[in-house]
Amino acid sequence: MTTAIIGVGQIGGTVARHLVAGGESVVLAAKEESNAEALAGELGPLARVASVEDAIADGDAVVFAVWLDTIRELIPQHARGLDGKVVVDPSNPIGFDESGKPFRTLPEGQSAASVVAALLPAGAHYVKAFGTLGAAALAAGAPREPRRAVLFYATDDDTGATTIEGLIRAAGFDPLKAGGVADAGRIEVPGGDLFQQVGRNGHLLDLDQARARLREVPV
Ligand SMILES: NC(=O)c1ccc[n+]([C@@H]2O[C@H](COP(=O)([O-])OP(=O)(O)OC[C@H]3O[C@@H](n4cnc5c(N)ncnc54)[C@H](OP(=O)(O)O)[C@@H]3O)[C@@H](O)[C@H]2O)c1
Repeated sequence: MTTAIIGVGQIGGTVARHLVAGGESVVLAAKEESNAEALAGELGPLARVASVEDAIADGDAVVFAVWLDTIRELIPQHARGLDGKVVVDPSNPIGFDESGKPFRTLPEGQSAASVVAALLPAGAHYVKAFGTLGAAALAAGAPREPRRAVLFYATDDDTGATTIEGLIRAAGFDPLKAGGVADAGRIEVPGGDLFQQVGRNGHLLDLDQARARLREVPV
């Protein structure tokens, strides 16, 4: 299986490193090809570089590790290539003002997942995942001993669920489904009660802790 990773910044670079460490093949695309080449050079023979179009064609799963506005541009441009693919979306409806203060870019109650899923062709298998921790926690969170940390995901699609569970495990985490697309706001930021699931001592949640957190009703 090959995973296309579109965007090699904080999230895309980290997901690529974790997947390759778990023995997965990745094909990397960025805005500046030299950025993807630099990462591929670091990762070795399991990583290669392609244009966005060719990466989508080569990937069984496609991770859109770019900002939500960029996803909104790229999906319509590549709709035909995305038909039949598992599409993994880590985006959050978040922007930053000139002072670096975060703000919500979508109306309250509207998730980035609902926007992205609605753009995809009918044959694509949509999953919200890999954006549920801050980038630093995602990078530092795997592999963790003795108990792996959890990454939540959300999907309405069985093929998407099977694929993302395999990718999350390969990346060194335990997967846990937080619900369907309608629940994806719980794992997005701002506002998601399951985002950046840091326990009282600053530790990420293991599977038992994450299951208990999932059962709590969001406020
Ligand atoms: N950072 C976090 O802590 C965090 C946490 C959770 C979720 N997320 C979500 O993850 C996504 C990525 O965030 P990030 O922090 O990884 O962003 P980032 O570090 O700014 O990286 C963005 C990447 O997108 C690439 N890109 C931009 N336009 C492109 C295009 N037209 N075609 C192909 N690639 C393009 C950039 O390419 P170049 O390298 O060539 O510039 C860059 O590699 C966002 O949706 C964000 O909301 C981020």
